[in-house]
Formats: sequence, structure tokens, C-alpha cells
Amino acid sequence: MNDCFYLMESEEETLRLELKTDPEHVEQQARWAGVKQGMRVVDIGCGTGKTTYYIHKLTSPNGKTVGIDILEDRVRYALEHYKKDDNIDFFQRDIRKPLTDLGSFDFVWIRFVLEYFRLGGLDIVKNVCSILKPGGIICLIDLDHNCLCHFEMPERLEKSMFGLASALRKNANFDPYMGRKLYSYLYDLGFQEIEVNVEAHNLIYGELNKIDAFNWKKKLEVAASRSGYGFNEYKAGFVEFFDEFMQFFSSPKRFTYTPVIMCKGRKPHK
Ligand SMILES: C[S@@+](CC[C@H](N)C(=O)[O-])C[C@H]1O[C@@H](n2cnc3c(N)ncnc32)[C@H](O)[C@@H]1O
Repeated sequence: MNDCFYLMESEEETLRLELKTDPEHVEQQARWAGVKQGMRVVDIGCGTGKTTYYIHKLTSPNGKTVGIDILEDRVRYALEHYKKDDNIDFFQRDIRKPLTDLGSFDFVWIRFVLEYFRLGGLDIVKNVCSILKPGGIICLIDLDHNCLCHFEMPERLEKSMFGLASALRKNANFDPYMGRKLYSYLYDLGFQEIEVNVEAHNLIYGELNKIDAFNWKKKLEVAASRSGYGFNEYKAGFVEFFDEFMQFFSSPKRFTYTPVIMCKGRKPHK
């Protein structure tokens, strides 16, 4: 694994992130988390900058929002598409390295990033806490049972999905169960006023829309190719697995959801 490894990276990852990010949902989550006008906010692992932009709208007119991401191309895209005024900015940074040159913030937001760090997640939270002011708020958001809750899936397909999830944990440092860990991170770090909220993400039933079809196609293609999983349940391996998944997933009878867990807390004044 190279130093800049991001499991989902592909030529179409920017497009996938843009399409699947629902501004209304981001705003709802940010309001729940306590983002308010005038705050200085940092969006950790900001992707295309879309989440940063909608969070920034809640801090405007006199707040400041900074998005950071490890990938140069993604930061360039964010600057081109979402740097709409002087109070929003984007920088290339590795969240495993010191970040104190960015200044200090009233609010730290980390959504759909820690799941890529089965090992090392707590260290990242510790690191980003170094740029959170005492009394500031952190909000961690991740999926739980990622890609694993469906009805009524053929048995061999279900077996492959769980096999794939285990292989990703082992070989790609990915954690399909990150959501449930978030509370313990804030608890162990001594955060106060911790609150947790659980909702359904990817709530899919009836006709499959184009965005969900594209998102799940990419999730499986990209993650599976890097998982090292053999798909031995199928004679033709991945190709046959993928066809069976898309057939199942395209049926309006299928029911799919993923729990999304949000956890917020206040950094203690020492
Ligand atoms: C699934 S996207 C999440 C984007 C956005 N936070 C959201 O809620 O949609 C994960 C992002 O984390 C970034 N990332 C992965 N490892 C990173 C690291 N070590 N430092 C900074 N960003 C990283 C990836 O480049 C990617 O853009």
C-alpha cells in the first residue's frame, strides 16, 4: 500500500462523490452537529469540496471554512468549483500528519473518512483534535455494516458480500463497521456532552435510480478489485458475482439500507 492509498480512488471517484453527496442531507447533519454562523470550521477529508461548501453556507456571512484532502487533483477540483468567496479555502494535507499550521477551529467535521482507517482511526481523531479549540465541537460520521444490509439476497451473494467485507478489513485497512466505534473514540479522548444519532443512509427500495446504480457499481468494482477476495462462490469469479449483484440490486423488490452513525462531543477546557 503506498503512502497516498485511498481505497476508492479511480478515474470516476470525483464524479461518484459529486453525484452521491446530497446537499440537504449534509446541511441537516451539520445543523444537528451544531455548525453555526460565524464559526471557523475544518472539513477533514473533504473530497470534492461539496460538503465543505454546504457547511460553509451555515457559517456565513462571517464564518470561515477550510477543506483538506490528501489528493492534489481533488483539492484543485474543490478550488475550481467550490471556492465561492474568500472565507472558504481548500488545502492539500495528509490527516495523519501535523495540521497545526492551519490554525485552530471551533468545529471539526469528519464524514466518511475514518472508515478507510481500520487501524489508525483513533490516532487521526487525536491529530485533528490538536486544531480544535478547547470548548470546540467535533463531529464524526461513518457508516456501519457498510454495504451489508439487504433483503432478500441469494445466499451465495450474501456470503460473497461478507467475504469481500472481511477481505477489505484485512487487506485494505477498510472498516465496514466504523460507525459503531465513533462513540468510543470521543469517550476515550475525554470529550464532554457526547451525543450520538443513528439514521438510515442508502435507503433503497422500489425502482433503482441512476445515482444509486452508479455509486454501488463503482463501490463494488473499485473496492473488490483491491480487496484480494477470490469470489470462489462463483465459477467465473468477480464477473459472475458482479452480474448477480446488479441483477439483485436492480430489482424493485430489493430492500437495502445502511446505518449512518453520527457522534459529536465538546473538547474539554483543561
Ligand atoms: C469517501 S470520501 C469523503 C468525502 C467527504 N468527506 C464526504 O462526506 O463526502 C474520503 C476522502 O478522504 C480523503 N482521504 C483519504 N485519506 C486521506 C488522508 N490520509 N488525508 C487526507 N484526506 C484523505 C480521500 O482522498 C477522499 O476524498
